[in-house]
Amino acid sequence: MSRTVTVGLKVNGVEHELDVEPRLLLVHALRDRLGLTGTHVGCDTSNCGACTVHIDGRAVKSCTVLAVQADGAEVTTIEGLGSDDQLHPLQEAFWNDHGLQCGYCTPGMIMAAAALLDDNPNPTEDEVRQGLEGNLCRCTGYHNIVKAVLDAAKGKAPAIATQPEVTA
Ligand code: FES
Ligand code: FES
Repeated sequence: MSRTVTVGLKVNGVEHELDVEPRLLLVHALRDRLGLTGTHVGCDTSNCGACTVHIDGRAVKSCTVLAVQADGAEVTTIEGLGSDDQLHPLQEAFWNDHGLQCGYCTPGMIMAAAALLDDNPNPTEDEVRQGLEGNLCRCTGYHNIVKAVLDAAKGKAPAIATQPEVTA
């Protein structure tokens, strides 16, 4: 029988106690134990950034952290950033600027961008590109992602665009 350790995590404002194997990665604790599947796994080499969450306010690739290392920490995932009624400005800007295609990288990209804007609320385009260099997107070519982050920083994200009516 494998040994387990009790870990305390505050995730999106809710306290959890989890019995975990010491080898369990934080990303798997979030996805498989807490059902927070907005945090994605895109690689097994710490390269893609799809698993980015905030630990105590800092952007971290959650596939590089053991759940036991996060004991006592405050974790924010994409589910904790906005709500269905009130999107986070970055979510709104990604929507309006078409900053995604398949969406696989998007939660990690937005979490990394949120930490970037916390540190530097008025970044240049170069600073955004540099700040997101740990997050890979295989679809968009990055242009609209960078635009979305810059627009969110400027508070330029307009209200969610109404979708055109489709008639038969
Ligand atoms: S899944 Fe964590 S960096 Fe790719
Ligand atoms: S939108 Fe598909 S990987 Fe970024």
